[in-house]
Parts: sequence; structure tokens; C-alpha cells
Amino acid sequence: LVDARDFEGQDILSLYDWSREKIEYTFKVAEKMEPIVLSRTRSQLLADKVLAACFYTPSTRTRTSFQSAMTRLGGSVIGWEAGASSRARDVARLATGEGESDKDTAIMLSHYADVIAVRHDRTGGPREMARWATIPVINCADGPNEALSEHPTQALLDLYTIKKEFGRIDGLKILSLGSQASIRGGHSISFGYAKFKNVKEYICAEKPLQPEHEKRLEELGGGSGKYQLTASKLKGCKDSLIIMHQLPRGEGISTDVDETKYARYLWQEAWNGVPMRMGLLSLVLGRAPPV
Ligand code: CP
Repeated sequence: LVDARDFEGQDILSLYDWSREKIEYTFKVAEKMEPIVLSRTRSQLLADKVLAACFYTPSTRTRTSFQSAMTRLGGSVIGWEAGASSRARDVARLATGEGESDKDTAIMLSHYADVIAVRHDRTGGPREMARWATIPVINCADGPNEALSEHPTQALLDLYTIKKEFGRIDGLKILSLGSQASIRGGHSISFGYAKFKNVKEYICAEKPLQPEHEKRLEELGGGSGKYQLTASKLKGCKDSLIIMHQLPRGEGISTDVDETKYARYLWQEAWNGVPMRMGLLSLVLGRAPPV
């Protein structure tokens, strides 16, 4: 049986080894956080806690929703939003091979904060930091989208969105299209789907082409056959269909899809990031409300 003690002091690095019960527990805690977000107010649950939000590569949603989550719980946020402002990615030091290590960075952050949320430019970087940190480390996406790259908190908020829409995850049919299927968030959510019963995920992933190869192919009149979802392609779809996208928007989704009744990505899905991340922060810091 899962309870809040299973999260306290723990890292969130991958969904590979999470049980269904653990995923469902986060849904219950996120639900408890929703009134704070809906009323645009603050609680004082984490008023004495500090989040180090350390992003080596760009982010709009993950970084700001973690900042919002910590702020809505009364806590404070430190960190950096561009790697070059850290000693780990200090351009001058990197030139001489002296970029500060994940070990040293993690130990320093453990002195200054109570939890680390890191977007890392190397696959496995958050796991390496977690080896040395004495506080929980949350992987906010790692690597340049290699096989072992993950984005577990994105997957949890996506699973939460699906649960809220359908009341269940068991038995659903999911079509994962294009780059969304093959990037780090896609890796994590596939692990999540695998924990539920009879979920069928149909993956139709673009094989990314090397830009130089794509250019030469186009010179020959060929192309990579990219798929774009448009409003007209959705005509006649079942009312129960929903369209999610982790964003930022790429070529795969036309802006006219935004106006359809199926679109969730800019609204419900993105909104759910804050209560889910509030829940996760409260859980790893041992302050989650009873569910
Ligand atoms: N979904 C997501 O990770 O978005 P950001 O890159 O803006 O954080």
C-alpha cells in the first residue's frame, strides 16, 4: 500500500520503476492542491522551504510552473534559468575543461535549498546529481532526447489530465504522434501507460533526419513526410477524443486545432502542471496533505 512516506525525501528521476499506486497517489495530492490554484491564492504549507530550480537548457512551462507551484505553497525559489550563469556551464571555465561537476554542484545546492528541480543538458545528469545531493532531486527533463532521457513530472501531469478527462486510464487507446512520441516526455509517459490495464499506445514516431541529409533529400524533391494535425483532419472524430501536446508547438499541430473542441494542450494540460508540481513538492518534502 502506497502512502506519503513512500515519497518523503525521495528523488523523482524516472517513471520506469513507479507503481500504478504511486502514480495514482500523486493524482490525489494534486487534486487537493487545485483549490489553491483555482482561487489564485497561496497557502503556507512550504513557507520555510526553498526550491533550487536549476535549468541548464530553455524551458517555459516546466520552470515557471515549478516556480509557481513553490510560490503558491508559500515557499521560496532560487536557481538559474540559463546554464551559462552557473559555474557548471561557465563558458570561460568550460573552455579550459573546468566546468563545475554535477557532484560539486549538487553538494552546494544541498546546503542552500531543500529540493532541487533540474533540467539537465546531459542524459543521466539529474541521476548523477541525486547521487551526491542530500536533498530530493526532481528530473525536469534530461539530455538531448536520447533513449534514456525522461521528463517524469510532465508525464505525471499528462496522466493526471487523462484521468480527469476520462475518469480512468485503464482501457484507453492512445495515439502518440510525431516527435511527441519519441522525446523524453514520451519515454516517461509510455512507462506510465504500461502500469495501467489494457492501455494501447499506438506510437507513430518521426524518425528524426539529420538536417544536412534532409536538405539534400529536399534538393532531390524528396522529404521526410512530416505529419501535421489540422482542424480539417479532425472532422468526424469521436466526441470523446482529446488532443494533448507537451509543447512547445512544433510543425505537428496547426493553430486551427486550438479552436476545436478536442484541444487540451494550451488549457487543461498546461494548467494541471501547477497542482501536480505542488503535490510533488509537498510529497518529497514530507508535507503532503492527507488524502
Ligand atoms: N513541456 C515542457 O517541458 O515545456 P518546457 O520545455 O517549456 O518546459
